[in-house]
Amino acid sequence: MPSIPDLIARAAAGERLVVVTAYDFPGARFAEAAGVDAIMVGDSVGVVVQGRASTLSVTLDQMVYHCEMVARGAPDAVVIGDLPFMSYQASPPQAVASAGRLIKEGGAATVKLEGGERMVEQIRAIVRADIPVVGHIGLTPQSIHRLGGYRVQRDRDRLLADAVAVEEAGAWSVVLECGPSGIAAEISARLTIPTIGIGAGAACGGQVLVYHDLLGLYDGRAMRFVKRYAALGEATVAALARFAAEVRAGTFPAPEHGFGAEGSAPERSR
Ligand code: KIV
Repeated sequence: MPSIPDLIARAAAGERLVVVTAYDFPGARFAEAAGVDAIMVGDSVGVVVQGRASTLSVTLDQMVYHCEMVARGAPDAVVIGDLPFMSYQASPPQAVASAGRLIKEGGAATVKLEGGERMVEQIRAIVRADIPVVGHIGLTPQSIHRLGGYRVQRDRDRLLADAVAVEEAGAWSVVLECGPSGIAAEISARLTIPTIGIGAGAACGGQVLVYHDLLGLYDGRAMRFVKRYAALGEATVAALARFAAEVRAGTFPAPEHGFGAEGSAPERSR
């Protein structure tokens, strides 16, 4: 997998960057095997893994834990660690300390934080500490109470000002979430750093989707911008139901799944 400078160069050359979220060791291994460009350990873990209604209660300790698992699963990947709610908003020193934990303890290469103009001091401070930053503007789920819900963000001037502020503060990339495609295209053309879209149209410098959404592992409320590339939730239920049926029928375990009196290796090849 590439480094951050590689990603910046490839985006500048017109290549679209592929980013997917992951939260654990197997997810990271699958993402790496699929050849994605970067893995984002998003605070969406609070919704798709922890089963909460929002990301607001995700803690920094939890993010460190999930980053660590992902970094172990994809040791060569660019791992983007997401700063959770109230781990950076209070002050630039708080932001630097929290970002440092995702890098030092979590093994992330870069951190992401939500907010445009209102977060420039935090972005500058983290970048000064030599930690690369990804911004996140548009629909920022940590601002859900101020925004009044998960809504498309259509204020062109706000989006443009936030995007420019994030770039000027030193971020190397910015996530544009849930904004009109035309505005996202204008912002992507205006910025020199790559935009990573989610619900922001095809003109962004790259795209990100949530692992559980794209694999069909999350059956809660899905945004319209999500495309399901697999139905692993259904496949999982079917496999578990077969297991249950075979146990009840006494057909599992079969003789080949057991051990005789003579020694034989406990492992099997997959
Ligand atoms: O938390 C997350 O997974 C994210 C991405 C969807 C951009 O912020």
